[in-house]
Amino acid sequence: MCFTYQNGELFAEGVDLKEIAKQVGTPFYCYSSDKLTRNFEAYQRALAPFNATVCYSVKANPNLGVVSTLARLGSGADVVSAGEMFVALKAGISADKIVFSGVGKTPYELEEAIKAQILQINAESAAEVETINRIALSLGVKANVALRVNPDVDALTHVKITTGKKENKFGVDWDEAHELYRAAAKMEGIRLAGIAVHIGSQLLDLEPFRLAFTKIAGMVRELEAEGIYLENIDLGGGMGINYNVELPPTCSAYADVVRETLGDLGKHIIVEPGRSIAGNAGVLVTEVIYTKKMGQKNFIIVDAGMNDLVRPAMYDAWHTVLPVTKEGVAPIIADIVGPICESGDVFAKDRIIEPVQQGRLLAIMCAGAYGAAMSSIYNFRPLVPEVMAHGREFAVVRKRTSYEEMLSGHAVAPWLQGNAL
Ligand code: LLP
Repeated sequence: MCFTYQNGELFAEGVDLKEIAKQVGTPFYCYSSDKLTRNFEAYQRALAPFNATVCYSVKANPNLGVVSTLARLGSGADVVSAGEMFVALKAGISADKIVFSGVGKTPYELEEAIKAQILQINAESAAEVETINRIALSLGVKANVALRVNPDVDALTHVKITTGKKENKFGVDWDEAHELYRAAAKMEGIRLAGIAVHIGSQLLDLEPFRLAFTKIAGMVRELEAEGIYLENIDLGGGMGINYNVELPPTCSAYADVVRETLGDLGKHIIVEPGRSIAGNAGVLVTEVIYTKKMGQKNFIIVDAGMNDLVRPAMYDAWHTVLPVTKEGVAPIIADIVGPICESGDVFAKDRIIEPVQQGRLLAIMCAGAYGAAMSSIYNFRPLVPEVMAHGREFAVVRKRTSYEEMLSGHAVAPWLQGNAL
């Protein structure tokens, strides 16, 4: 099991979170190796009837311990920067299982990807295709390129994580994609490898996927009729997860949609799930620093802040908060807030929770994706440790940053040196 209570104590697999807190201090992220594995294998199993590659979306959680766990299972990687590509390669993912997405890849990043001969670069504009061609020619090679097309489909998700509508910045306009394929087919530095689509994140309904995949199938057929053959169909991110009361579709229901819409094309299918692999495989553990009451309102002030987990502040996202030690007393209603100097630094508003005193630990659930990945050192707070649980053992897979490390690279300008203020 992954995160479960054993005699009133919350465990990560076979490890008591309280024990980890004693050793690494709070706040810290804790991941379950077993949950990561099971989430990944659910995609792999469901897509086994196809020639398919599951390319874990590194942006969800680029921790080397996490990516290495998935690499061992045979995962590929979806990366959106040269930095993520570096992590994926370090984790042992071979270049021919890496896809590179993103609307603003720099010439440097494209050059790195072309030199590495990755599976495909998902280009998002005519200007990017031309840049790729120029760089590949200068290197004397051909780059594997797919066009990420924008199918103008509403993903029915949060506005900040919708990507497949015409008004979003992502992808090549549907009506211009054909023309760009024709132009790219003539470029000497480009080998047209595929087509890619990604309509958004935290999708809980399969219908937007069905609409997008159906449109993609149509485009692939039309291109083949013109003599443009593509090997890979990249379907973008995976499904949403249950943060509170959501009912995400299963991997096998997703695979049914893939079969119904694209099955007869016989292409290599690529999927890029991030959240549904790492999300419920991680928690953020934090300690209650103070509690206070203002008027009728209870506040629980914890040592994690929006710099450690920004999702509630940024997307009004719900994360369940559980006491690490359950006492079974009558709950109260409280706001659970961080110490950052921003009124948006709130993890949970009017939440029903056991009254917790100073020094108690809370676990913020489903924080494995877009948690540590989006953290910052705002308020000059160190990045928190990340820990991987595996059966009865655990390992620190990133240590807490020290103040010295945080200051490394800073400098006092020369004109200030030697001048007493
Ligand atoms: N592929 C592409 C091209 C993407 O842009 C994304 C996510 C994924 C794959 C992975 O999607 P997933 O399987 O995780 O849904 N920070 C936000 C989520 C942003 C998602 C951005 N793109 C959050 O915390 O909800």
